[in-house]
Parts: sequence; C-alpha cells; structure tokens
Amino acid sequence: MKLLAIESSCDDTSAAVLDGERHILSNIIHSQDSIHRPYGGVVPELASREHIARIIPTIDEAMRVAMVSFSDLDALAVTYGPGLIGSLLVGLQAVKGIAAVTGLPWIGIHHIEGHLSASLLAKEPPPYPHAALIVSGGHTLLLRVDDFGQYSFLGSTRDDAAGEAFDKVSKILGLGFPGGVALERAAKGGDPKAIAFPRPMRSGKSQLDMSFSGLKTAACNELSARPIKSPAHLADFAASFIEAVVDTLVEKSMKALKREKLPGLVLGGGVSANSRLREKMAMAGAERNVFVHLPERILCTDNAAMVGAAALCRLERGERSSFELTAEASLPIAFGKSGLNKTPPRCRRRGLREN
Ligand code: KG4
Ligand code: ZN
Repeated sequence: MKLLAIESSCDDTSAAVLDGERHILSNIIHSQDSIHRPYGGVVPELASREHIARIIPTIDEAMRVAMVSFSDLDALAVTYGPGLIGSLLVGLQAVKGIAAVTGLPWIGIHHIEGHLSASLLAKEPPPYPHAALIVSGGHTLLLRVDDFGQYSFLGSTRDDAAGEAFDKVSKILGLGFPGGVALERAAKGGDPKAIAFPRPMRSGKSQLDMSFSGLKTAACNELSARPIKSPAHLADFAASFIEAVVDTLVEKSMKALKREKLPGLVLGGGVSANSRLREKMAMAGAERNVFVHLPERILCTDNAAMVGAAALCRLERGERSSFELTAEASLPIAFGKSGLNKTPPRCRRRGLREN
C-alpha cells in the first residue's frame, strides 16, 4: 500500500508518501514564510498563487524521495477544509486531476483531523481514549477523542487562536512571521516571570474555554507604558508573553483531563512545536500521572504526512470521496458521540490578520 497525500490549506505546500504501516517515505514541505513575512501575516491571494507554482514540483519531489511513480500508488488524500479557499482548491484540484487520470481512489481530509493524526505517525501512537489540544494559527481547540474519528467538543478559544496571538504580538514588536517562531527566538535567555501578563478565563462557568485577545491587549498596553529599551528587555517581554499563553493552555488541558477522567493528552498544530509549551505540558502530565503525547516538531506545523495518516484510517474503513467534494473554507469537525455533542465551533482559518 502506497499513499500520496497533499496539504495546501494555508501557506505551506506539502506532499507526502506513506506506506500502509504509516511509515513516512517522504514529507516535503514548501514554506511560503518569506513571501508573507513583509506583510506580517498570510496574504490569501499570494498564498494561492504560490501553491499553483509549487504544487507539481512538491509532488514530484515527494515521489522522487519516496522512490515511487504513479503506477506504484494505491490511493490519494488531500485536505479539503477548513482553510483559505484559494489555497485548498489548488491541492484538491491536483488530487482530483491525478485521480481522474489514474483512476486511483482518493479521500478528502479535515485539516484538524490531520493535526490530530500526526500522533499516529509516532512509533508508539497514544492509546484511546484521550484528550487532544489542537493549537495553531487558526484554532485553539480541546477535544475528547474516544477513537479515531470520534471527537467530542470540550472547549475552544472565544476569540483569537493562540498562534494568532503570537503572530499579532510578534508583528507589533516588529519581529516577523511566523510570530510563534520569532517570539520563541526573541525569548531566549528572558525571564518568564519578568512581566505579569494576565491568565484570562481562569475561573468561571465555561471552564474549558479560553481567550487570547485580552492578553494581546495587555501586551499592547505594556508596550505603550514601557517601550522595549534593550535586547534583554525584549527577551523578558517575549518570555513572559509566551509563559502566559502556555500557562493557559496547560491549565485548561489538565482541567479537561480531570473533568473527563482521561489518561492522557495529545498535542497538535503549529503552536505545539513551542519548546516552553512542550516542556510545561510534559511536566504537568508527569505531576498528575497522565501521558502527554508530543508529535515530532516537523509534524506539528502543517504537513502532508499527517493528512496521509488520517487518510489511511479512513481508507481502511472503506471510505472514499467523490468528485463532487468541494473545498470548504469553514468546516465543523464531525462530533462522534451523541450526548456529549455541543454545537461545534466554526473552524476558522486565518487570512491576513489585523492588529
Ligand atoms: O498548524 P500551523 O502550521 O497552521 C495552521 O493550521 O494555522 O500553525 C501555524 C501557527 C502560527 O500561528 C505560528 O506562529 C505558530 O503556529 N507556531 C508556533 C511555533 N511554530 C509555529 N508558535 C509557537 N512556537 C513555535 N515554535
Ligand atoms: Zn494547521
């Protein structure tokens, strides 16, 4: 079994080849960071143009590294939503084109299910049931995962996603894009306790919901009151801001585990590449005797291998997509267990973001 998977939902063009045992034979990621950097956020029109230019070379490269040709493939997979519509369309049309010519079966995958499935690529995938925290530029979502495909909503951000908060604060500081990476670099050697940023929504009724826009405002106010005056001050500021976001994510995740009586947590999404988050979440898990599964960093940010992992599970169940499938900018994730169902949050992906 050989599968070619494609991911193009935002600003990364990625193609991967996996075998039936979920071994990654190739996972090529063409990042558009340098194109969007001058704007401090993803410009949707530029993203789709770049996807069009890169999609075929990226697929070719994935096939070359995996040493396969189209005749060796058994199936295809692609992210069909949520995401930037122009970006999604490029990957989806590429897969439809290959499927039309080769007759290969194919399947469309939900982007969040892709992030959740990065954990399945580990040598020892986490057991079910577990909680999952998906933290990216477009989402901050806590789920209960009873089995592959069986998701229940536990909580989410009420406003900005955690990655969005990093991107916005980085832009205000003039540090560049993607903000999470730039802030992490700037925070080196900084004191995470130097500035006491708020930890929003600590208490209250919606125990598992989060909010990051107030924190962003607090960062702006702090900068107006005390502008950055030295590299050491910048490091303290960045480390303190990261600490506030990380503390919120850790606290809410641990609350979810306790409330749902779950044995562990799986992380996914670009922000889960953050060192401080990985360190503090692992520590919190060890203290409470629950497992914390951290996918490899390269599998946290957008990539096609995670889409392939989800696709293998769905294809195994006999699921297939048809040519009627369209790209969806906004796509709720299917919630499996009745009773625990809540109205799913509308999954939102980012475009060029305002301060
Ligand atoms: O999952 P992803 O690649 O794309 C989306 O689905 O949005 O996540 C991108 C987000 C960006 O907001 C970026 O700033 C953040 O993940 N990010 C990080 C790190 N690497 C990427 N945030 C914190 N620390 C990092 N090391
Ligand atoms: Zn993503």
